[in-house]
Amino acid sequence: VKVTYVHHDGTRTEVDGKEGDTVMHTAVAHDVEGIVGECGGAMMCATCHCYVDDEWLDAAGERRDGEEDMLDCGAAEVKPSSRLSCQIRLSPALDGLVVHLPEEQM
Ligand code: FES
Repeated sequence: VKVTYVHHDGTRTEVDGKEGDTVMHTAVAHDVEGIVGECGGAMMCATCHCYVDDEWLDAAGERRDGEEDMLDCGAAEVKPSSRLSCQIRLSPALDGLVVHLPEEQM
């Protein structure tokens, strides 16, 4: 499942993620800068904040319960497309997913 991370400066990192892994885990496993994932995906840190590309908003689904509150605790501005990337799991429907990364996570 291909995922493209677009960094704040416009550079892009494309990685091949595993189905079932989260967007956060995939970034950390591939040393993608810009996603920290401090709490390991427990929805406790908001250092995995990303902005889902407009074209992928439907496929990525809705925010989970509690996600919004955690996003508010993060360092970056919360936008309608904001998600915790540890709450997005890769599936065939997300092949080609594009997420944008905030300037800083903490
Ligand atoms: Fe901590 Fe996502 S990794 S909230």
